[in-house]
Amino acid sequence: MRAVVIRRFGDPGGMAVVEIPVPTPPTDHVLIRTEAIGVGGVDAVIRRGTLGAGFRTGMIPGSEVAGIVEAVGASVDSSWIGRRVWAFTGTDGGYAEHTLAPVGELVPIPESLASVDAVTLGSAATVAHFALAHAHLSAGESVLVRGAAGSIGIATVELARRGGAKAIAVTTSSVERGLQLKRLGATELLSRSGQSDSPVPKQFDVIIDIVGGPDMPAFLDRLAPNGRMILVGAVAGLPPENFGSRLLRAFQQSRSFATFSLASIPLEARDTVRAEVFDAAVRGELHPIVHAVMPLDHAAEAHRQMDLGAVLGRIVLTP
Ligand SMILES: NC(=O)c1ccc[n+]([C@@H]2O[C@H](COP(=O)([O-])OP(=O)(O)OC[C@H]3O[C@@H](n4cnc5c(N)ncnc54)[C@H](OP(=O)(O)O)[C@@H]3O)[C@@H](O)[C@H]2O)c1
Repeated sequence: MRAVVIRRFGDPGGMAVVEIPVPTPPTDHVLIRTEAIGVGGVDAVIRRGTLGAGFRTGMIPGSEVAGIVEAVGASVDSSWIGRRVWAFTGTDGGYAEHTLAPVGELVPIPESLASVDAVTLGSAATVAHFALAHAHLSAGESVLVRGAAGSIGIATVELARRGGAKAIAVTTSSVERGLQLKRLGATELLSRSGQSDSPVPKQFDVIIDIVGGPDMPAFLDRLAPNGRMILVGAVAGLPPENFGSRLLRAFQQSRSFATFSLASIPLEARDTVRAEVFDAAVRGELHPIVHAVMPLDHAAEAHRQMDLGAVLGRIVLTP
């Protein structure tokens, strides 16, 4: 089968397409023939080699696929064979014609939802759902989404709107992406550093931060009293060292900061929400925003576009 491997961490040119044997599913795994492969922000972070130890050259990137179950491990119910599923493959393995996934990480895809759309929403909207729950967002509160143009950010905007948020500000570096985010429910547009030409709320009840990096303390200052900032991703890296002291300096504001990872949510709850996300997409209540569909062999080009920051929603690879 064809697969994309990382031969050298760093720029997208370090990825190569290779021919390798189709894997055999271990006891509690299934083998999936991929139809759609999501290119996530985390894939780009791993490829750059900035996510720390644990990743080796020769790895196949990609964590989210949709496709048909072709074979099952010894302990897996054979009725899975032939079903079209969404699957989380872990932090690797996805960019290939076939991939393995643990049976607990499969969610059947409704017939009327395309595989491309399933990998655009399956991980992102589930993260957004639990991140907003972690922030205890209530109807009537204001929300700021940093890094809203990615698939997690878009889903956060849509879910915040459905949750009755009164104002939904977003950061984006692109006027065009900002206008599209407005169509999806954003009410105010901010630059990446938080500036705006028009009057916007100075403070927010909830900040969902997918960006992290050096600007985090400045955004912390924009939390209203009793406000909650949730760090979901760190596409711009870790916060500076004075971040903790900045939080303490505003002691009397009773602000909260928390990280959120889907890994902390029990598998069954994740699968339940994911199935609800797919049903909401079928009903037209959530919109899978697909930036581009590209052949698997163009994975490096997909990553170049990610690095340029020119993506709205998700790039999807097809084998
Ligand atoms: N918590 C979890 O359970 C979980 C699960 C999966 C993934 N993640 C994390 O989520 C992140 C990826 O999410 P995603 O795929 O939705 O995001 P993404 O598409 O990689 O990036 C989102 C947006 O952030 C903006 N951005 C990019 N670089 C920036 C920078 N240096 N400074 C400011 N803004 C920048 C870009 O928009 P503009 O150009 O329009 O500004 C970009 O579209 C990764 O960090 C990944 O590890 C977390």
